[in-house]
Amino acid sequence: MDVKELEKVSDFTLGEENTTYVKYFTGKSYLSVLNTKEVVICNVTFEPVKSYTGDYNSVVEQGKRKVDRGFKPEIKPLLVNLEDYDTIIIGTLVWWYTYASAVATFLSEYDLSGKTIIPFVTNGGWIGHTLKDIKKVCKNAAVTNVIDIGFNTDKMVMSESNLEKWIASL
Ligand SMILES: Cc1cc2nc3c(=O)[nH]c(=O)nc-3n(C[C@H](O)[C@H](O)[C@H](O)COP(=O)(O)O)c2cc1C
Repeated sequence: MDVKELEKVSDFTLGEENTTYVKYFTGKSYLSVLNTKEVVICNVTFEPVKSYTGDYNSVVEQGKRKVDRGFKPEIKPLLVNLEDYDTIIIGTLVWWYTYASAVATFLSEYDLSGKTIIPFVTNGGWIGHTLKDIKKVCKNAAVTNVIDIGFNTDKMVMSESNLEKWIASL
């Protein structure tokens, strides 16, 4: 099929002839490189309105009290409309064996029904029930491709290549 015929039937944006994979396929491809016009990607942070205070150990202690009483801090608006996104990659630290309080606010305030949720969970080796809790609160979403990124003090336990594989799978 030449490019003129393809234009009539293709849902994708076409560009110059793409020869990158030519040795693997017969026929011709004119698919253009994906960019943010075709795939909308956005990075947002769950930022509490009131910042944490004190040193690391004191934040860990405060965090325990917050998690124990199910505290959900007010978070700043996300500046994106989640309705525009089908897939959401949620990153959270593990706080006392579950997701961090600011993430608890996000998960309780936003409706993620019907979306694909990909959690990545950083931790110091005790992930506890974090993934079970995410699946429970996102029960109307498809939770998939989860990754547990453990740290031993400042050093990532997982190999960089495994992390890269995960990134490539997204
Ligand atoms: C309040 C608080 C509670 C934490 N609880 C846990 C925990 O239960 N299990 C764990 O493996 N790590 C726990 N951590 C460590 C963090 O998950 C870890 O430091 C983080 O994922 C790595 O990111 P960072 O480099 O920003 O600290 C806790 C940290 C804080 C601040």
